[in-house]
Formats: sequence, structure tokens, C-alpha cells
Amino acid sequence: MSTKDKVLKILEENRDNHMSGESIALQLGVSRTAVWKAVKNLKNDGHNISSVTNRGYKLDNSSDKLDKWAIINYLDSEIKEIDVRVYETIDSTNTEAKRLLNSENLSNFTILVSDEQTAGRGRRGKNFKSPKGTGVYFSIVFFPKEDFSYNSFDLVTIKAAVSIVKAIEKTTDKKPEIKWVNDIFLNHKKICGILTEADIDFESKKVHSIVTGIGINFTTEFTDELSPIAGSLYAEDLLRSELVAEVINEFYKALYYKNDEEILSEYKSHSLLLGRYVNFELNGTKYEAIAKDINEKGNLIVQTDDGKLMTLSSGEVSVRGQF
Ligand code: BTN
Repeated sequence: MSTKDKVLKILEENRDNHMSGESIALQLGVSRTAVWKAVKNLKNDGHNISSVTNRGYKLDNSSDKLDKWAIINYLDSEIKEIDVRVYETIDSTNTEAKRLLNSENLSNFTILVSDEQTAGRGRRGKNFKSPKGTGVYFSIVFFPKEDFSYNSFDLVTIKAAVSIVKAIEKTTDKKPEIKWVNDIFLNHKKICGILTEADIDFESKKVHSIVTGIGINFTTEFTDELSPIAGSLYAEDLLRSELVAEVINEFYKALYYKNDEEILSEYKSHSLLLGRYVNFELNGTKYEAIAKDINEKGNLIVQTDDGKLMTLSSGEVSVRGQF
């Protein structure tokens, strides 16, 4: 680890408190000048650090530059040792995850976070707008257990959606809702999307790895054709690092501790669709129906006005409506 990184770790662990150059230098076994240089570089990188004579350096509480140590500070103790990698810019954290899976042995629950994506991807081949410094774009790489069936994919996204709304509720006073299957809405606008991808061996039906990518608009302004449907969280006093960490904490619990029943009940209680009319197209026919339920596989059950029940899988249809 570089001196700059070590200094940042110390400042993050003591956020909003002054740390004297001398004590940092002593802890790291380097000179005070080396600490001063590291702090100068960190400031140039965009960290909000103040220096006060006789008191030392302080990383301001509002400093919202994404960094590994800030994220780790907010992680639950059980997962503090996970591999967290932060990028200034990347094409797509999901694409980077796939590249890394091909080139190295990643550990379970590796997190890739970027401040910007130049080719962010959404579902159905869409782009995901990911401008610098205004959102959180991250991917979680994990390796499912032997018995994981690829029919359970929708549940992975459902677990991610529940984790995101829980993290937002924990850190803000906002009331986000989930639009089946993978969109998070706030005040009638989409503020977050989820893209889950997997490396599957179709012969053995074994799922080698799963990458769940999450993009949350934090302060992104939409002035283009997306503006009527896309919005941002705009949470005051919330750091992006804290939000990322809380989503990771919740997703870890959802994957390894909560049972499917619990997840589905949390999902349904935040559902934007249940009880509402939705439109969708199936095998070339257009339908309008009321969303009735979400079953144990994460499928949406709808009922047409003539009483016919239909089960929709997210792979087949996308639903529309005025939300
Ligand atoms: C959607 O809304 O259709 C899904 C959007 C998923 C966006 C996230 S941002 C992090 C990760 N990297 C990507 O390229 N996509 C996902």
C-alpha cells in the first residue's frame, strides 16, 4: 500500500477529527514531509482535507470522494475484509468484473465501485447514464453455492432490490419503492437500476459466478428525454461511500442469512406495482392487467379484467404504466 493510501486510511478512520502530521508519521514510520506530500496529493485527488497549524489534518465529514477506506469503515464487521476496488472511471463495473473473473482469482464478494462509467449498461442492451461524481455505480461479484439453480436468478435481483430500499431507508428519511423486477423508484421516478449477470455452464447447469451491478443516481440531473422518468436520491448529509456500504451490508445479509420468504415479504411491501394496472406484451399480444402478487420464484402474477391469471417472468416481459 502506498503512503498516500495509508494516510487516507488513517484520516478515514478518524473522519472529522484532527490528526497531527507527527502522529501519522509515527504510525506509518515515515517522515512528516512524506505525510505532508501524501495529504497534498490526496487534496489534489479531490479529498476535502483541512490543515490547521498545531492541530494537524482533518478529513471533513462532508468529503464525498469515493474511496475504499470510507466504504470499509461503514461495512459490517463480518465483511470488513472483503476486496473493495475503487475506480475513478471505467467503461462499466460489470464489464470490468467479467474481465477480472477471466484474469484472476477474485475472492467471494469482491466489490468494484466507480465514480463514473463511460459505457454503463442496463438491462435489454440499454445504456445506463453514469456521469462523474453524481452517482454510485458498483458491482458485487459472488460465487453461488453448488446447489444454486439458474432458475433462481430473478431472486438475486429481488434480493438486491430489497437491499437497496433497506439501505436507503436506513440512511435517509426517503420512502423508495420497487418496480418489478429491478427498478427502484422515488417520487414516481426511477433512481436506481440493477443488472445481474452470470457465468453459466449450460452443459452442467452450474453457475460459476454472478455479478450484480447496481447504479444509483445520487445527484444526477436529467435534462434530456430521460427527465420525465429518471430522478435522483438527493439525500442531504449522506455520503456515497456510506450508501454503497449499507447496500453491500444488506445484500450480504439477504444472500447468506435471510430466507426467501422474508425477502419476498420485504419486496412485496415495497412494491410499486401490486394492486395497480400494468401493460405488457407477451408473444406479440398486448395486455393490460392488475398486478396481483409475486410468487416464490419472483414472477409477477397478474389478472386480466376477464379474470384470467398470468405469470410473468422478467426474462419475457417488461411492464409499463404510470408510476
Ligand atoms: C437497468 O436499469 O436496466 C440496470 C442498470 C444497471 C446499472 C449498473 S451501474 C453498475 C453496473 N455496471 C453497469 O454497466 N451496469 C450496472
